[in-house]
Amino acid sequence: MTDAAPTRITVPGERPYDVVVGRHLLGQLPGLLGDRVRRVLVIHPGALTASAEAVQEDLRGQGYEVFLAEVPEAEEAKTAQVAAFLWGVLGQADFTRSDAVVGLGGGATTDLAGFVAATWLRGIRVVQLPTTLLAMVDAAVGGKTGINTPEGKNLVGAFHPPAGVLCDLATLESLPVHDRTAGLAEVVKTGFIADERILELVEADPGALTAREPDAAGWATLRELVERSVAVKARVVGEDLREADLREILNYGHTFGHAIEHVERFSWRHGAAVSVGMVFAAELARVAGRLDDAVVDRHRSVLTSLGLPTTYRGDRWEQLLGAMRRDKKSRGDLLRFVVLEGVGRTARLEGPDPTLLAAAYAEVSREAPSGTAIAL
Ligand code: GLY
Repeated sequence: MTDAAPTRITVPGERPYDVVVGRHLLGQLPGLLGDRVRRVLVIHPGALTASAEAVQEDLRGQGYEVFLAEVPEAEEAKTAQVAAFLWGVLGQADFTRSDAVVGLGGGATTDLAGFVAATWLRGIRVVQLPTTLLAMVDAAVGGKTGINTPEGKNLVGAFHPPAGVLCDLATLESLPVHDRTAGLAEVVKTGFIADERILELVEADPGALTAREPDAAGWATLRELVERSVAVKARVVGEDLREADLREILNYGHTFGHAIEHVERFSWRHGAAVSVGMVFAAELARVAGRLDDAVVDRHRSVLTSLGLPTTYRGDRWEQLLGAMRRDKKSRGDLLRFVVLEGVGRTARLEGPDPTLLAAAYAEVSREAPSGTAIAL
């Protein structure tokens, strides 16, 4: 595959920054770090040690002082203990306001790296190098950073936009295919809320996107999907960083999806749970008289074509409802959903009648296999 010229997507806002999409992008890192940075801490999970060392070598060759900090894999990294360890590293290496953090990894690593950068000296630069599809199209872009507490996910955090993001598609080549598929759920979400061309690209050849080893055409489509998804996210967070209103649309499918994640004790991949969550939101809009059957059917067909789940067991309503009520996206006691009135036409449904919720759940669980389903 050729390394076509990288695409730069600017995220507008108080301090605009670029998301660069392409292949083999390390050479772009100094440009995103800016000219004042002298020391860089690269935060990475153990599985990416070789990549972190490559970043270190490259930056050292350009005169930076570079430190590496290995953190646990995935959500295990997002704890107060790991954050405190990283503050210790920054302190011992005398990091000042004009130094920087690099987050190299999936969404958990970039959330953690962003949070540590947000809190060190009240905020230093962070450049994100996401290595999963999910992190490229969602977590690493937009400045939401945070860690978990025993009471819940992302309860402690800050809005801290990065100084730049490098989406190096070459890193996706070694990503397990199920992780790529789970990331596609967020891509499909972006299609439904804001860019129908995304849905058309997926529908044209879903197998090319979920192949164990995509061919050149599959990679070209994946690249376009990343670019389109990032472009939507850039526009949305550029207008509403702090989720006063518009940014909420990025949570399409997430209220029910997060509830599944809770009920399944986080054994489901996030993307799989969001996939079912989108079908729930679509059914909810349909039973509320706001969305036509064709768009609901399109949810099922596009998600199924990627091998994503669209049903959930029918004997968990009380637990799911409880989890949705506790979700931090609820306001006061009112459940609140992002719904569609058509592709690309988002609306809100606040405090829906319990019979509508139950009817949507009945539709989602109608064809569900009995027993605990492990998605993907
Ligand atoms: N993941 C949703 C957002 O960034 O707002």
